[in-house]
Amino acid sequence: MTLKGKRILLGMTGGIAAYKAAELARLLGKAGCDVRVAMTEAATRFVTPVTMQALTGQTVWTDLWDPRVADNMSHIELSRDRELVLIAPASADFLAKVACGLADDLLSTLVLARRCGLMVAPAMNVEMWGNPATQRNLRTLRADGIAFAGPAAGDQACGETGMGRMLEPADVVAEVEAFFQPKTLAGKRVLVTAGPTEEPIDPVRMITNASSGKMGFAVARAAREAGARVTLVSGPVALATPAGVERVDVRSARQMFDAVKAAIRGQQVFVSVAAVADWSVKNPAKRKIKKVDGRAPVLEFEENPDILAWVAARKSAPFCVGFAAESEKVAAHAEQKRANKGVPLIAANLVQEALGTDDNAITLFDARGRHPLGRGPKIELARKLVAHIAGMLAKKRR
Ligand code: PMT
Repeated sequence: MTLKGKRILLGMTGGIAAYKAAELARLLGKAGCDVRVAMTEAATRFVTPVTMQALTGQTVWTDLWDPRVADNMSHIELSRDRELVLIAPASADFLAKVACGLADDLLSTLVLARRCGLMVAPAMNVEMWGNPATQRNLRTLRADGIAFAGPAAGDQACGETGMGRMLEPADVVAEVEAFFQPKTLAGKRVLVTAGPTEEPIDPVRMITNASSGKMGFAVARAAREAGARVTLVSGPVALATPAGVERVDVRSARQMFDAVKAAIRGQQVFVSVAAVADWSVKNPAKRKIKKVDGRAPVLEFEENPDILAWVAARKSAPFCVGFAAESEKVAAHAEQKRANKGVPLIAANLVQEALGTDDNAITLFDARGRHPLGRGPKIELARKLVAHIAGMLAKKRR
């Protein structure tokens, strides 16, 4: 678990989204974090300190002049042993204060006095978010290296709709996990394919496979966590786009090929996780094929372009990583695929363990041999894969 033992100060400011911070504190605690809470006076109007105390099992801090702190230095002490100050919800007013370096209550003072990183999860009305003053403050905060979790667009408590909703607690936790990942791919551009493809037979029928997209989406998320700018070309799947990842949806192998061709320029890494159909129906019927005289239709197939081999053969090819899903003789097939596709790295997994599952087991094959990544949740394996890619890129540069 990546967040186990992380020391986080959760700062809450005044806004209706404060109720989400209660669940956020619970999830962070469940993930193994040591969570302390500091609240502005306005935040205590929405959720009581008692609630947060019960959820974290820790004293909740609200007052710069708290007589319990002998030397009156709570603003220093509270942040000193912390690895991250997370402000959720972060109101427009609080973001403005941080942008200006104001320190007129406990939370703003400890933010100014902190030595650790700061992440904010903004929550405000759509007009407040769009206001030039807020936008100016956001630019300042980004330039100061402050990390953002959201916001999202959607229905707001005030009845209006638009940008400014605080992310859901689980999504904030994902951003916190991302914050703690080493930025091994900072400044790099990474293109990932994921999911199955669909090859039409007629307007209602198609040939596809059981890929859920989970492995490819995990790779996209891990690359983004490592600081890369990530484009994800995805076949039809029922998964949410990882935060901060640009997504292009396709259906057929041909469409996936076109999307990859359109995005490939300027990419430094290409990871081909998609289960691309090798064949498509040559002349898919324009109308639904009817059942006639009990005769089975005969389908003629043509070979689809090999996207990975095409990318790897380019003059200025990015660092290419292929996946191999095998049902037997994994090592032999993976090595063969590495050679056939002309790629430096293949990630091999067993079909029966990988397709549609949440966990997987992967072994990497490169010029130095085999590197087992072990078994675990796909996101953890994806992070190990990203670390291996970053290591190989670093060696290439030397
Ligand atoms: O989506 P999940 O349910 O999480 O499952 C993940 C997965 C099993 C699909 C994934 O981990 C995986 O192994 N993907 C590769 C599937 C495969 O075996 O592909 P392949 O052997 O047909 O192709 C080898 C490599 O060439 C792959 O990187 C593939 O993306 C690429 N390829 C294949 C054919 C083609 N026309 N174009 C390609 O780019």
